[in-house]
Amino acid sequence: MDRIRDAATILSQAKRVVVFTGAGISAESGVPTFRDALTGLWERFDAQALATPQAFADDPALVWGWYEWRRTQLLRVRPNPGHDAVAALAGLVPTLTVITQNVDDLHERAGSVDPLHLHGSLFAPRCSVCAAPASPVSPTVTSPGTAPGASPGLSPESASGSGSGSGSASGSPLGSTPTAGVADEGRRITPPACERCGGAIRPGVVWFGEALPEDALETAVLAASECDVLLTVGTSGLVYPAAEIPRVAARFGAAVIQVNPQATPLDALAVVNLHQSAAQALPALVEALQS
Ligand code: APR
Repeated sequence: MDRIRDAATILSQAKRVVVFTGAGISAESGVPTFRDALTGLWERFDAQALATPQAFADDPALVWGWYEWRRTQLLRVRPNPGHDAVAALAGLVPTLTVITQNVDDLHERAGSVDPLHLHGSLFAPRCSVCAAPASPVSPTVTSPGTAPGASPGLSPESASGSGSGSGSASGSPLGSTPTAGVADEGRRITPPACERCGGAIRPGVVWFGEALPEDALETAVLAASECDVLLTVGTSGLVYPAAEIPRVAARFGAAVIQVNPQATPLDALAVVNLHQSAAQALPALVEALQS
């Protein structure tokens, strides 16, 4: 409790606070992280097979199908108490900026206003040719496919679900049985065509090898350089340039507080390390701040 109290004391004196989040804050909502052993999303898929511009050029239906599967999975989960606490924090400190590496919409659904998405969003698809924004469409499965690069731990069938749409005998490896009409993990879905130019619509996420959205990154770096406290939650702090954000804050004299059940390279930077889950530590932090 004393570390929570220490963190609350630091926050209570802060004028400008940044909350910087990674996949870990959504883990307790049932959204897999990227690098946690066994559960990490990339453990199951070869990122090169699904999250690069080349992969989309090579097989747009496979890549669009996988991201539609991830998006429709999100429609079935809810923000957890960690997201709720971040939203509540906005009412307890003078100014709060949420910067997230996540492409889900759980911060928004918990009530955080205009979080900065450094890696884009599953809910902001755009034309791959003219970049015109498109609205997320309900997926229509065109044909069962097999996600190449699925980890050896999963037979291609269990990664792709059976033709019936009811998922394979082992069900989706993430434990959810795909419902009819919802894109099954690894199924090919022909991406919609852009209304303006007819180009293929692509996911609005930042792929490996792509630049981060300039305005979001610039705003995030400025907020990090001006804040008194940066609360980093649920990130391994390994993927740059996003991972630079907590380091910018520290360089400009901010106190860094970390929430992560595991040690990360950010441990050395943090003045307080709360080695707990987001859904445990953040509500406790908000409660301590309110008492
Ligand atoms: N609460 C808090 N942290 C958690 C929890 C939890 N319940 N569960 C796991 N974590 C921590 C893990 O210990 C790990 O340090 O969340 C972190 C997740 O790390 P990654 O899987 O690497 O995710 P992230 O840091 O967001 O990855 C950054 O990499 O692949 C790219 O674009 C992708 O945005 C992602 C970026």
